[in-house]
Amino acid sequence: MTRRRFIILSALLSAFIIAVPFACSESLSVSHYTVFSGKLSGDVRLAFVSDVHNTLYGRNMDELVGAIVKLKPDAVVFGGDLFDNEWGEPNSVLLVERLTKMYPCFYSLGNHEFHRYDTGAEQIKREMRARGAYVLDGRTYDLTANGSTVRIHGIDGISSADQLKYCREMISPDMPNIMIDHYPEEFPKLSTMGFDLILSGHAHGGQVRIPPFIKGLYAPGQGFFPKYTSGEYYRGGSEMIVSRGLQRCLRDIIIPRVFNRPELVCITICGERS
Ligand SMILES: [Fe+2]
Repeated sequence: MTRRRFIILSALLSAFIIAVPFACSESLSVSHYTVFSGKLSGDVRLAFVSDVHNTLYGRNMDELVGAIVKLKPDAVVFGGDLFDNEWGEPNSVLLVERLTKMYPCFYSLGNHEFHRYDTGAEQIKREMRARGAYVLDGRTYDLTANGSTVRIHGIDGISSADQLKYCREMISPDMPNIMIDHYPEEFPKLSTMGFDLILSGHAHGGQVRIPPFIKGLYAPGQGFFPKYTSGEYYRGGSEMIVSRGLQRCLRDIIIPRVFNRPELVCITICGERS
């Protein structure tokens, strides 16, 4: 091998060794969104926590709880897949126990709660209610903060027709209506129903992202090169914000997250500025 080839190969190998940990970083990221509404006077801030899958975030979940506290939210919204297919360690239980002592917490379930084979989803709902969380299985709650009120709805997906019917009947014209639905692929249908803001997860950012070209390789319910994986989407009069979720992959999943750090989402809903 010539000296020149050796230098080029060494440089490429070094770049690869440096790039892989960066590309596959699973350090926690925080994304901020501002949503304007003419129906509010004061601001309302939500911490949106999706797809934890019972992942451990530091001793006693200190890392995630600390990141949420720093946001100074008025409420915490869990967007489904808080738990995984089996109970495992009590990480997410501890997260809910700690956060319900500090904030109103709203919880919409995801597909993994319904895939549980050791306990059913109904038991999870009972356990989370017992800890003070407001479970959004076709229910509606009003959240008031800073002199403003938002209405929070939630369903177990649009196939839960009775839940969706009830939430649609509860839409208020006097305040922002926020729908928590785990499945972002349902946005085209939900966007025709009068909800102002829809919060979703489920896609895990499409797992592999190669910016700026590939905004997700695969997502359940959407297949390869999914459309709804991260960020803001608009359709009709509705906006949807999709979280890339908080599951760290190394323990359970063979395909790593690539350019797709776990994400805590902060949403500030502001009165319309003139
Ligand atoms: Fe998930």
